Amino acid sequence: MRILYPFNPLNTKEADEPYQEEYLAVKALGVSCSLFDFDMLEFEEFRPEPKIEPGEIILYRGWMLKPELYELLTKFIVNRGGSPLTSLSNYLKCHHLPGWYDECKEYTAETVFFPDDDKLEANIASLYWEAFFVKDYVKSNSTEVGSLATTVAEAINIVELIKKFRGGIEGGVAIRRVEEYIKESEIRYFVMNGKVYSPNSVVPQVVASIAAIVMAPFYSIDTIQNIDGNIRLVEIGDGQVSDKKSWDVSIFAAMLAENS
Ligand SMILES: Nc1ncnc2c1ncn2[C@@H]1O[C@H](COP(=O)(O)OP(=O)(O)OP(=O)(O)O)[C@@H](O)[C@H]1O
Ligand SMILES: [Mg+2]
Repeated sequence: MRILYPFNPLNTKEADEPYQEEYLAVKALGVSCSLFDFDMLEFEEFRPEPKIEPGEIILYRGWMLKPELYELLTKFIVNRGGSPLTSLSNYLKCHHLPGWYDECKEYTAETVFFPDDDKLEANIASLYWEAFFVKDYVKSNSTEVGSLATTVAEAINIVELIKKFRGGIEGGVAIRRVEEYIKESEIRYFVMNGKVYSPNSVVPQVVASIAAIVMAPFYSIDTIQNIDGNIRLVEIGDGQVSDKKSWDVSIFAAMLAENS
């Protein structure tokens, strides 16, 4: 396996700043790595250094990619004789909320999906819920207002803020039931080639159950404790574009090396 990292535009021999420590740790474990110019991908230029060797399985680790750009990346990899560990469909299955929601319904907050169109307000109102957690298919609203709304007008405002600060709605709007979580209890796990990896060597039953249901090569599982003491699934993410969060870089790198 070869891992592709975006390079640092200020020093193209290094991985981009958030990935540099991981890049060094993974290389030190003997994993083949290449750097490429992330910003040029949208201009259809892809020149990873060192080059991809024919027959290599390629894992990307870097910034989130819109579906069209992920598809382009996979095409470039294939054109150079490699094969992406995560296909476009597996990327979307984990990166977009509707991709994993049906399979994981019992573990996560009830969610309905609406297109971002002129019926959105009426659609949200038709739920008659007392509160809404508002996202698009990928992320919540990170501005001060947050993602929690108690009126339809507030929910629409959050959608507008996501559009303003993230440049648009990716996929569609996801309206989730509000659950009562213990904030500090969120933990990110990773599943790679069917095996669950934990930052603290403990794997809760809920995480093992989800890993047995969701079939994709590399993804993250975020869990959190609710006020009743149950472990709930916050979200699944594609492992390639998931932040390491609280993970010690050496444990994270060891996981990648074990699967390389
Ligand atoms: N249905 C919900 N009810 C109440 N709180 C929620 C709900 N879903 C998520 N949260 C809270 O909001 C936080 C962010 O939600 P989520 O992870 O879905 O968005 P995100 O944009 O992917 O955030 P991050 O980048 O931190 O992973 C969660 O860590 C959790 O504390
Ligand atoms: Mg999250």
